[in-house]
Amino acid sequence: MLKQIGIAQNRVDGPMKVTGEAAYAADRRPGGQLYALAVRSPVAAGTITRIETAAAKSVAGIVAIYTHANAPAALDWHADPAVMALSGEGLGRQALEAAEPEAPPPYLPMTGPDIVFAGQWIAVVVATSLEAAREASLLVKPIIEPHEASVEIDARNDRFLEPGFFFAADMQVQRGAWPDTAAKQQIVSETYRTPMQNHHPMEPSATVAVWDGDAVTVFDSTQGVMATREYVARSLKLPLDKVRVISAFVGGGFGGKNQTWPHQALAAHIARALGRPVRLQLTRADMAVASGHRSQTEQDVALQAASDGSLTALRHVSRVPTSLHGNFFEPSGLNSLMLYEAAALGVRHHVVRKAFATPTPFRAPGETPGSFAVESAVDELAHALAQNPLDLRQRYIPSRDHYHDRDWSSNNLLECYRRGAEAFGWPEGVIVPRARRDGHELIGVGMATTAYPAPALPAIVRLRLRVEGKLQVETSATDIGTGMYTILAQTVADELSLPVEAIEVRLGDSNFPHAPTAGRSKSTASLLPAAQHAARALLQRLAAAVREPLSELSNVALQDRLKAAGLAELEAEGSSTGLQVGQQVSFYSFGAHFIEVRVDEALGRVSVTRVVSALDCGRIVNPKTATSQIRGGIIFGIGMALMEDAAFHPTRARMINDNLADYAIPVNADIPEIDVIFVGEPDNRFNELGVRGLGEIGVPGTAAAIANAVFAATGQRVRNLPITPSAIVRGGE
Ligand code: MOS
Repeated sequence: MLKQIGIAQNRVDGPMKVTGEAAYAADRRPGGQLYALAVRSPVAAGTITRIETAAAKSVAGIVAIYTHANAPAALDWHADPAVMALSGEGLGRQALEAAEPEAPPPYLPMTGPDIVFAGQWIAVVVATSLEAAREASLLVKPIIEPHEASVEIDARNDRFLEPGFFFAADMQVQRGAWPDTAAKQQIVSETYRTPMQNHHPMEPSATVAVWDGDAVTVFDSTQGVMATREYVARSLKLPLDKVRVISAFVGGGFGGKNQTWPHQALAAHIARALGRPVRLQLTRADMAVASGHRSQTEQDVALQAASDGSLTALRHVSRVPTSLHGNFFEPSGLNSLMLYEAAALGVRHHVVRKAFATPTPFRAPGETPGSFAVESAVDELAHALAQNPLDLRQRYIPSRDHYHDRDWSSNNLLECYRRGAEAFGWPEGVIVPRARRDGHELIGVGMATTAYPAPALPAIVRLRLRVEGKLQVETSATDIGTGMYTILAQTVADELSLPVEAIEVRLGDSNFPHAPTAGRSKSTASLLPAAQHAARALLQRLAAAVREPLSELSNVALQDRLKAAGLAELEAEGSSTGLQVGQQVSFYSFGAHFIEVRVDEALGRVSVTRVVSALDCGRIVNPKTATSQIRGGIIFGIGMALMEDAAFHPTRARMINDNLADYAIPVNADIPEIDVIFVGEPDNRFNELGVRGLGEIGVPGTAAAIANAVFAATGQRVRNLPITPSAIVRGGE
């Protein structure tokens, strides 16, 4: 009997956030704190001859300046491969190693004179105030011998690596023979491009390090305190129990705080060297280069179908960059392995090293850019076949996960199509471009499919019942804006028949029980079963303490029982196992976006005017926070479709919009009502609660649905994102 799960409960941490009571990393102000700021390389490639610091050192309040010349000795700052393997620089190394036996050494700033991307940290200034640090940072003068640098992908001349297994999938798949093109087939064969994107969460990354004897507490903005603790501890050469990482509130992450980055360890190294607390905060410009990004992609998609629409072949070839020393690359073909059943399937990834900072996962990595290409191509195929895109997609619903050779635990994609189309008023028959006009605006509708895996990892949740005060729930998981505080309270409240108000959830402290990093939409399915088990364990322990059967405890005041037993408090833990190796079925979430746009061709302006998305994400724990997650994902997709584009200077290979004035993202005026429909039944083959995560599934497909709607409105097929006014005015080029 579920009383709290399924209720649109307000965020339990909402009042703390809006009153400023919630302390984010950079809000911590330990006494005697110093302020550290980075100095970035102005060039993309070169060798540092020397760095002049005399003028910077004369600024009042300057305490120290670190460069490659003194940081390794003064801070014990070294690019130890064991440490780097844990960082954002290490992710993907195994996938690339097969293709590149002589992998370049891992990169860490201030360990040598080489510049490998523009914006690389070449110095860090430390001062008694932020203002002094800022002034000094502007006076640090690097003398650099510049080299040639390239950030352009050249499909013909670049040397591409062919990575192996990554993100639980083979990156080079060939199945069946490409059908005879002479046969009566409809073919779509196009190249799609997506731009580099920056995560830019509202809260920039920041780390405050405070030493107490030989132990350090790190207040950090991270998606995973346990991963950060391990990275920081290994970097400092300390045992894990000497490092505590606290990240109680996080103002967004989107993947940029999923991996660990140098500043998180560097703050602790500097604080140790100087014997004072240190705050190292990333500026907006740092956020564009020092905490990952989504790389640009170039994707060739070819679809071949019989005249009735049945799909005979799908080829999806991606060319994506990584940095000169890192390894992560965008696995754009992931969903092509699973979502469309074609006798001939070719999915390949080609990776090229360029003078970029290292890319990293960015909300639905792989699926997001991949879905733009494939979901655009399916729409192109529908128009070529003179079929309604919805009808075509309905016949493409994958009956099972053919790639892994497993059934789906559940798949309600057909129901998503049906309910979404009905709520949206999706038209029947062939969609004729340029058929609807309202004054100077053309109106069009587009749709696309989304899908995202549902992983789960082991987690532990601890409950503490006390005679006084609220029942405490503790786990090291983070709430990066997703609603984890709230749904944990709901789950425990449900099991113990308590109101949500009787529960206090405490998160984001590495001293709390183990939980996985918040990423890849796995936290809900990892944490909630553990919370459920913890509540049951607590009831059992209480029953044993008061020597009464469990059944008589369900609705009594737990605290009275505790008091009667003569106990001040009672603890219990519960754990979850995560997904087991050798699972028998595939756990996936599915959905469909239906979008209307209006296009003013004279001005080139595209407005998204209506969005209906129907999703199958298992049982919905909290319709309010769940809807908010999906809306956020769709807004991400709108930004990707129409605005976001980390642009580079054509010859200097340097990002020219590393700030929120020039890097456009959607604001309220860009966002229409977004109608989110959840169609899923509880996925009880996944876990007892039937819950799946949903932090990312809103993003894939959104940009394609918009591009498809732009085609319906204007007849222009835009295959290069973003769809800017100039692209519309130029006719989709
Ligand atoms: Mo997410 S891109 O898995 O943090």
